[in-house]
Amino acid sequence: MKISIGCDHIVTDIKMKVSDYLKSKGHEVIDNGTYDHVRTHYPIYGKKTAEKVVSGEADLAIVICGTGVGITTSADKVFGARAALVRDVSTATYAKKCLNANVIGMGGRISGLGLIENVIDTFLETKFEDNEENRRLIEKIDRIAEVKEGQQGNEDFFVEFIEKWNDGGYPAE
Ligand code: RB5
Repeated sequence: MKISIGCDHIVTDIKMKVSDYLKSKGHEVIDNGTYDHVRTHYPIYGKKTAEKVVSGEADLAIVICGTGVGITTSADKVFGARAALVRDVSTATYAKKCLNANVIGMGGRISGLGLIENVIDTFLETKFEDNEENRRLIEKIDRIAEVKEGQQGNEDFFVEFIEKWNDGGYPAE
């Protein structure tokens, strides 16, 4: 696979270890920086890294900052990116299996390298469960970002989902 990666200055060393790990598993890596420890801004690298997936240059992306929060949030703002902040194999599994995440983010100051590698393995190996339920869920989430009359501030936006929830339509997974 082609994996796009990016980080901020806080976790450059960890990003390089992740890059080496991916290469050792036979993946091609597109490293979008940052490349040193000079203070910089994580949104730049979240954006660059996610854009490689959306453009089709990369299959998937991994972003890392201190907590993972800032760079993942930035990556998720790229139209077409589905970025998930993950902390363990369960969250990585859910992100790919149910939401078909194409970007995962992690906190290099939060999660240790061993866990990060396990999470990456899970993210790359888990298949999206391509069914009506998951497709509709993703579509509904994507539509939150659409600026359309009657949608922003629309109190009824989730009514059908809440009804389904109340009827036990969502698995307890
Ligand atoms: C440093 O810029 C730090 O704020 C960043 O790495 C991250 O933890 C933000 O979520």
